[in-house]
Amino acid sequence: MRTYFAVALLMALPLAGQSRATRPKIERPDGAVWNVIRTNCTHCHGIDDYAFFALDKAAWAKLITEKHKPADTALAEADKTLLLDWLASRFGPETKPFPRTYIPPEITTFFSDPEAFRLMNRSCTKCHGVDRVQGARKAADDWRVTLVDMRERGAQLADDELEQLVEWLARVWGTNQDK
Ligand code: HEC
Ligand code: HEC
Repeated sequence: MRTYFAVALLMALPLAGQSRATRPKIERPDGAVWNVIRTNCTHCHGIDDYAFFALDKAAWAKLITEKHKPADTALAEADKTLLLDWLASRFGPETKPFPRTYIPPEITTFFSDPEAFRLMNRSCTKCHGVDRVQGARKAADDWRVTLVDMRERGAQLADDELEQLVEWLARVWGTNQDK
C-alpha cells in the first residue's frame, strides 16, 4: 500500500509543479520526406520545433540557412526541394505557429461535466462538433498541446479555462478509461 502511494505521488509531482512552457508535438511525415529529415536533420534535434514557424518556401530556406553552418545542412537539390515543399505545406503561412511561451497556470477549481460541455459548446463548436473532441483519448500533456493549438486557430479560451479543460479532458477522456 505504502509503495503504491509513493509511486502515485511521484507521478503526480511533475504535474503539480508545471512551470515550463508547453511544447508542440509533431507527427512524423511518411516516406521520402521523412527519409530526408531522418538522414539530414534528426541527429541534432527533433522536428517538434518546426511548429514554431509558419513560413513560405523561401522563408523556410532562409531560416534553415540562418540557423545552421552551411556544411551541417548541405542537402542534395532534390532532397532540399522535397523538404522545403513539405515544410511550406505543413507549416505554411496560412497555418498558425505554436506559441513559444504558454506556461500552464495552476488551477484550484475543477470543472464538473456540465461546465466542461458549456465551455466546449461555447468555444469549440464554431469549427467542429464536440464529437471531434470526444473521439480523442489523451493524457493531460497531450490535451494541453491540442488546446494551445486550437486556441491559436481561434478557439476562445482564457488560460484558466484552457487548463481546467485540460484537467477535465484528461480525467474524463484520458488514456486510462475505456469509455
Ligand atoms: C549539426 C546539427 C544540426 C543539424 C544537422 C540540423 N540542425 Fe537545425 N538546428 C541546430 C541548432 C544548434 C539549432 C539552434 C540554432 C539557434 O537557435 O540559433 C537549430 C535550429 C533549427 C530550427 C529553429 C528552431 C527554433 O526553435 O528556433 C529549425 C526550424 C531547424 N533547426 C531545422 C532543421 C532542419 C530542417 C534540418 C535538416 C535539414 C536541421 N535543422 C539540421 C542544429 C542542427
Ligand atoms: C477556429 C477553428 C477551431 C476551433 C474554434 C476549434 N478547433 Fe479543434 N480543430 C480545428 C481543425 C481545423 C482541426 C483539424 C486539424 C487537424 O486535423 O490537423 C481540429 C481538430 C481537433 C481535434 C482532433 C485533432 C487532435 O489534435 O486531436 C481535437 C481533439 C480538437 N480539435 C479539439 C478542440 C477543442 C477542445 C476545441 C475548443 C476548446 C476546439 N478544437 C476548437 C479547428 C478548430
